[in-house]
Amino acid sequence: MTHAPTPVATPVATGSTGTIPVADWFDPHEAMHNPYPQFARLRELGPVVYAPAVGRTFITTHAAVSEAEQRPEVFSSQSETNLTMVRALGGRPMLRKDDPAHAAERSAINPTLRPRAVTQVWSPRFAENVERWIDHLLELGPEHADLNRDFAAPVASQNLIDMLGFPDSVSVEDMRRWSTSYIAGIGNLLDDPAIWARSDASQVEVNVVLDELIPRLEREPNSSITSHLLQVGLPEDAVRANAHLTISGGMNEPQHMITNLVWALSTHPEQRATVLAGEAPWGDVFEEAARWQSPIGMVPREVNVDTEFHGALLPAGTNVGLLLASANRDATAFPDADRFDVRRTARGHLAFGSGVHMCAGRWAAKNAIADHALPRLYERIPTLELAPDRTPTWDGWVFRGLTALPVTW
Ligand code: HEM
Repeated sequence: MTHAPTPVATPVATGSTGTIPVADWFDPHEAMHNPYPQFARLRELGPVVYAPAVGRTFITTHAAVSEAEQRPEVFSSQSETNLTMVRALGGRPMLRKDDPAHAAERSAINPTLRPRAVTQVWSPRFAENVERWIDHLLELGPEHADLNRDFAAPVASQNLIDMLGFPDSVSVEDMRRWSTSYIAGIGNLLDDPAIWARSDASQVEVNVVLDELIPRLEREPNSSITSHLLQVGLPEDAVRANAHLTISGGMNEPQHMITNLVWALSTHPEQRATVLAGEAPWGDVFEEAARWQSPIGMVPREVNVDTEFHGALLPAGTNVGLLLASANRDATAFPDADRFDVRRTARGHLAFGSGVHMCAGRWAAKNAIADHALPRLYERIPTLELAPDRTPTWDGWVFRGLTALPVTW
């Protein structure tokens, strides 16, 4: 059963009182356009703030989010109320389980996503995919190109098709459609039936692929994520749920990171010059962009047991939102945190989470983007810039990125 925390009518500072400040002004619709001003106001109220508009208690600061991530026995992922992900994916993946059940599934995919496997197995594939889609961009020409539609989405999709071991019959358009419909389903807090219809349709399509793939991989195992899920003997419903999970996050977020980076560099020409002169490593630029415009703004947890946390009393059943994107703009952790600065190393940012659920694909994403997509894009199209006559579109605060990034050269 879920208990709402006991909010107070007027915002008060947290402290020994155990009361929780209320952000009755928090507006999720406004946050879709740009969440950062509201995140700053939330942090001013305190590390623990109740937002009635979303019925959730936000954890807002870097210290508090980090601590919550390190205490999964209190801040549980095995929720019976945060069920949109389970509904969207047609099963409960590792991300909605606690240890030891989570660890059994997570340890299955770790070997093929660690740095050594990324370098040996996936990096050459990522390199090929990037060249192919830069060719496509150049063929389209500087009048009509949209970096999201014509480069970031297909590159991220093809990389994931390869990592999952999906057959050539799966197109980048299929993967993009599946990933975006799952992400919309995971965020479908208002229960919109049209959104469920799209994620249900994707589940059916992905399951058709898995019906053929699973018996083949059982006979002939390989390096793919799907094969690794099978090799440890997980039940088939867990294999499928985690394949669907990987589709949801493994395409959408790398896609957003590619466009975020190009947008950040294009809107900061002096920093772009620093990077293109080789004075800031692409790896650091990637981490800083992930901190500054985090593709995942909030991750849900449910409080397992009555807890006092940073001066607030959180009853068991409280629905919590760990605001990763707010924590990444906390000036106590990152001086001048609102400033994009390629010369900082952004060590300790939380864009990939931390603790037991820390992103399994972070090394793959970094290799694909910081070693291949971005350097090659600027090597082959050195004059790449935002198209002055067409407008970029940002969207979202739980999942946030550019849905259109018109470019020219
Ligand atoms: C820049 C790109 C990416 C970002 C920003 C990102 C972000 C995240 C975050 C924040 C989490 C933790 C969520 C939570 O604690 O509730 C996570 C988990 C996860 N990510 Fe990523 N991700 C990215 C790319 C990828 C890729 C490429 C893959 C797969 C190839 C992937 C697979 C996963 C998986 C399987 C989990 C669940 C881990 C677990 O529950 O133990 N991610 N990701």
